[in-house]
Amino acid sequence: MVMIGASILSADFGYLAEEVKKAEEAGVDFIHVDIMDGHFVPNLSIGIGIAKYVRDITKLPVDVHLMVENPEMFIEKFEGIDMITFHIETCKFPFRLINIIKNHGAKPIVALNPSTPLDTIEYILGEVYAVLVMTVEPGFSGQKFIRPMVKKIDNLKHKISKEGYDTKIFVDGGINTETASLAVNAGADALIAASAIYGKDDVRKAVEELKKAATI
Ligand code: DX5
Ligand code: ZN
Repeated sequence: MVMIGASILSADFGYLAEEVKKAEEAGVDFIHVDIMDGHFVPNLSIGIGIAKYVRDITKLPVDVHLMVENPEMFIEKFEGIDMITFHIETCKFPFRLINIIKNHGAKPIVALNPSTPLDTIEYILGEVYAVLVMTVEPGFSGQKFIRPMVKKIDNLKHKISKEGYDTKIFVDGGINTETASLAVNAGADALIAASAIYGKDDVRKAVEELKKAATI
C-alpha cells in the first residue's frame, strides 16, 4: 500500500490545527513539513516552532523536509520528529549527518533535486530509511511534475532491488491523480502532496482520489 503524506505548505496557516486534523481524518499516513531558508531555495517558509507544534497536535508521523544549507545545525532542535529529510546537495558529510539523525531517534531520508544524479547517493543508499525524489525544483508548491523523473524513480527502484536494500522511495512535487499513478508504477512507496490535498475544497475526497490513483 502506497503511503500518502500531506504537505502543509498549501494549508491555511490561520487554521493549521484544523488543517492537520482534516488530513488525518482523511486517512493520510504522515504530515510533511517544508522548511526553507532562502539560501538553498529561493523562498522562506516556516521554522522549528511550527514543526514542533505540528508534532504536538497529531498522532501521525511527522516528516520535516529541510530545504536549508547546513542541515546538521538543526537536527537536535527537532526532538520527537519521526523522519528528517535532508538534501544531498547541502551536505558534505552525509554519513555523519545520517548518524546524527539516527541518534536523535528519527529516520533519515535523503532528498535529491531533479537534476541531481542517483550516483551521488550510491554509497549511502543502504543507510537511509528512504530517498526523496523531488519531481519539481524545490521551493514552491503548485508546480508541474517534471516527467523525466519517472525514469529516475524507475532507475532508483532497480538499484535498490539489485542491492537488496529495503530503502523506500518517496516522491514530492506536482503529485495529482494523474502523476500519482506514474510515480507508483515506476516504484514510489510514498507520495507527498500539497496542492492536490489542500488546494481542494474537500480534503477527504482529495485524499481518497489520490489513494485510488496510487493503487496499482
Ligand atoms: C516543494 C516542497 C513540496 C511541496 C509540494 O519545495 O518540498 O513538498 O509542498 O507541493 P505540490 O504538491 O503542490 O507540488
Ligand atoms: Zn517537501
